[in-house]
Amino acid sequence: MSKVFDLIEKEQNRQNTTIELIASENFVSPDVMRAVGSCLTNKYSEGYPSVRTSGNTGRYYGGCHIVDEIEEYCCDKWREVFHTDYHVNVQPHSGSSANLAAYMSVLQMGDTILAMDLNNGGHLTHGSPVNFSGKLFNMVFYNVTADGYIDYDDIAAKTEQFRPALILAGASAYSRIIEFDRIAKIIADANAKDPDYHPYFMVDMAHIAGLIAAGVHPSPFGLADIITTTTHKTLRGPRGGMIFCKKELAKKVDSAIFPCTQGGALQHVIAGKAVAAEEACTEEYRDYIFRVRDNCRAMCDEFIRMGYEVVTGGTDNHLFLVDFSRTHPHLTGKAVQDELDRHGITLNKNCVPGEKRSPMKASGVRIGTAPMTTKGFTEEDFIKTAHKIDEVIRGME
Ligand SMILES: Cc1ncc(COP(=O)(O)O)c(C=O)c1O
Repeated sequence: MSKVFDLIEKEQNRQNTTIELIASENFVSPDVMRAVGSCLTNKYSEGYPSVRTSGNTGRYYGGCHIVDEIEEYCCDKWREVFHTDYHVNVQPHSGSSANLAAYMSVLQMGDTILAMDLNNGGHLTHGSPVNFSGKLFNMVFYNVTADGYIDYDDIAAKTEQFRPALILAGASAYSRIIEFDRIAKIIADANAKDPDYHPYFMVDMAHIAGLIAAGVHPSPFGLADIITTTTHKTLRGPRGGMIFCKKELAKKVDSAIFPCTQGGALQHVIAGKAVAAEEACTEEYRDYIFRVRDNCRAMCDEFIRMGYEVVTGGTDNHLFLVDFSRTHPHLTGKAVQDELDRHGITLNKNCVPGEKRSPMKASGVRIGTAPMTTKGFTEEDFIKTAHKIDEVIRGME
């Protein structure tokens, strides 16, 4: 047997035998897996389906009539999932590619973006100096309050002070509802004060997209100009990205993906995204997301009962952050992550608000309930897991 298949079998065994608490992961269905492993991987399809280009073929190669249908169907299904008539581009290879293209579609190099800092829960692509976002654009960051909530007054103040060309909402490690309507109002107020000032409102819903689809989190549709997402987290699809936008931005967004930042579309992944969209339209999926949220609350409450500090004191979504900086000042997130790995529990170290350590060590861990809820874990299972984690941490002391 090829060495690769031997290693895949080992990874399958790891996935089958560990408790997976990484908030950005999930387990796709056999149908999603089947689509992604299909013959569509053989097909080149630079450009867009013909329907989008008014009947002229928008592809650079022949033989695209079937993948055209798949891509169009994929777009239609995702609009159905989010009950929206926004334009959608399903070609981004990842969440990072989606964010790069979103910025490129409406900004010039050096423009100012107001976003959430990595330490406070933002993502690398939201302006980290080591990422293209921090290198290509002038980044300004809004703060969180002392108890870890987004500081909307700071967004208003920094909008007035820095007049960003784009305001970005969305996070990788934020456990509370993001009030999109409040940010939209800040933008509307700034525009009312100065009618020449029109910042774009972008939302990166990568983490919470599944909760938005199921109605567990308020929707940014109708408020934001551009919405990016990954498809592999709470949406439980294949690894990839998507961009939704208001119709007037459709051409800019499409050309920011191809030809600006990507080449041929990954049609096998687009087929997987379409299958995931079909699944996300079902009652079963809605019920799954409600269980993800309820399981998360139950586990988070248990940590608090055991004396741990949780950023913001709780969760409204699929994740929460345990902050060791005051309760276990000698413990790093990395040490906890490594020790739990040895006990078959997988999670990731995470910076906490006011972080004093480097992101490679960090003072907290992020815990998510989406993958194990897919595997059938109940509230009792998550509570048991919280106790197991506590036992491991006490062992480290
Ligand atoms: C909010 C957010 N945006 C974008 C991304 C990037 O996604 P990808 O890893 O697919 O590039 C992530 C990944 O974790 C994320 O959390």
